Formats: sequence, structure tokens, C-alpha cells
Amino acid sequence: MTRKIILDCDPGHDDAIAMLLAHGNPDIDLVAVTTVVGNQTLEKVTRNALSVARIAGITGVPFAAGCPRPLVRAIETAPDIHGETGLDGPVLPEPTLELDRRHAVDLIIDTVMSHEPGEITIVPTAGLTNIALAARKEPRIVERVREVVLMGGGYHEGNWSAVAEFNIIIDPEAAHIVFNESWPVTMVGLDLTHQALATPEVAEKIAAVGTKPAKFVGELLDFFGATYKEAQGFEHPPVHDPCAVAYVIDPSVMTVRKAPVDVELSGGLTLGMTVTDFRAPAPADCNTQVAVELDRERFWDLVVDALERIGDVEA
Ligand code: BDR
Ligand code: CA
Repeated sequence: MTRKIILDCDPGHDDAIAMLLAHGNPDIDLVAVTTVVGNQTLEKVTRNALSVARIAGITGVPFAAGCPRPLVRAIETAPDIHGETGLDGPVLPEPTLELDRRHAVDLIIDTVMSHEPGEITIVPTAGLTNIALAARKEPRIVERVREVVLMGGGYHEGNWSAVAEFNIIIDPEAAHIVFNESWPVTMVGLDLTHQALATPEVAEKIAAVGTKPAKFVGELLDFFGATYKEAQGFEHPPVHDPCAVAYVIDPSVMTVRKAPVDVELSGGLTLGMTVTDFRAPAPADCNTQVAVELDRERFWDLVVDALERIGDVEA
């Protein structure tokens, strides 16, 4: 069955790959793309999203810009990882798609409300500001959304503090709202995404596709690989965001475990930690689960297959 998704993102190298995976996979129907401040300013990530759409040949999908700052905190971006543009490395084409006039929060609400209950899956790969506001503005979306599959958090490590992950710590209040609503939430966090390393073998398979979008992904990985090595000591870069899309395509690409997750809002050392309660048994009403182990080969096969299907796009 084709799964309809809204991708809420902040491109961002790995967000761009997530978008290509969603567009190229035949089991995903990308019904909307929304952007939010995160890896860079809203203006920059929105432009990047539109440029990626051109590279991927995405047409007929509404793209809308969302929140320019987090709910409570000051803006924090990630130039050390994604550069000054948010998508440093490749030369980006001028966008050809026009932005939808609606605010991303309204596009999310309209999309969920105009589909049948259980039809739309939300895939956030950025701070959760837009999603939290959508749930507050139109609470009926919570019971209509099939599930929220988000890249963010982690149950045993952080990357922006000792215990907090970037997408959560940049807007912890928004994350708190999203995790505490009653919709099913799958947390594809660092425990999982640090298994999705773009090794040289992976880069070779992508290069072998030989198309312009594949070359673009290669250039993204080159830049991202260098910054991840420099800023965080990774030998090969973890490609976080497509993991969330991969779970929607085929949940068996990773193992998950049901466990209550809450977001720390007041800890002096632990702000933004996604506190995961692994005590057994998980409560009967537990609506959250966390991703544990990735089938790396199948994951990268999905990415390569999507690029093959996208083919060479006339930009
Ligand atoms: C997350 O933070 C962003 O920099 C990436 O795009 C990813 O969504 C990883 O912590
Ligand atoms: Ca992201």
C-alpha cells in the first residue's frame, strides 16, 4: 500500500537525501513538504528545499515555509555540520517550484484534514516547531494522523549535548508537545541513525548510479563527511534523516521497541533529553516506540534504488 507522507524538514544534507528517497520510492506518495528553522535559517532551508525539488524532478507537490524560530528558545543553527547555506558543497540550481502561499502549519493541517483518518503519516526530520503548532492549532489532526515517524532524540546518547540530539534540543518545548500527544510516535534517534554510516562502499554504490541526482548525493556526502569528521570525530558520516523515511517504506528495515518517551524541559544538564523508559512491560497505553537496530544493507539498497528510479533529471 502506498503511504502518503508530509516531510517536515530543514535541508540540510541528510534532509535532502530523505527527500530524494521519499520521491524515488514507489511506496511513498510525497503529498507535502514543509520547512522549519533548524540547520539554517528558515529562508535558507526553504530555498534549499526548493532547489532539491528541482534536482530530484519533484513537481506538483506543495512546498510551504513554516516557523522562523522555535517556540520559546533562541534560534540555534548547525553551520559546523551543514555550512553557511545549510547545504554547502554542491552548486544548487535556482528553484523552479513556487512556494505554496500557506504557512507550513496550515498546509499540514489542511493536508491531514482533507484526507481520510489514518491516511497521512508525518515525517519530521527537523525541530518539531511546525508539528507542535499544528497540533495546537487544530487538535483534530492528532487522531487523524496515521503516525508520526520522526528523526530526533536518542535513548543513550546525544550530539548537541551529552544527552540531547539537535532536532530536540533546538525546540524542546515543541518536542515535548509532540511526544505527549496521543498519536503513535516512532523515534528514529541517534541510536539508530549512527548505524546509517555512509562508508566508502556506500558512496561507490551511489556513484555507480551515474545520474545527476546521484552525483548531487555524492557531493552532499563529501561535504557532510568532512564536517562530521571535523566537528564530531566520525570516520564516516551518519545519514540520519532518510532513516525515518525508510521506516515508513518498510518497517522491517529496523527493529523497534515500545517504550514511553518524554522530553526533559528543566534539567540543568539534560535539557532536551528524550528520556526513554525501558522498564518492562511497557504500559498498555504506550504510544511511543524507539528504533533500535538498522538493517544497513537494506537501508542503503532503498536509497540506491530510489536514485535509480529517479534517473537523470533535466534540471
Ligand atoms: C539531525 O540534525 C540535523 O542537523 C540533521 O539534518 C538531522 O535531522 C541529526 O541530529
Ligand atoms: Ca534534518
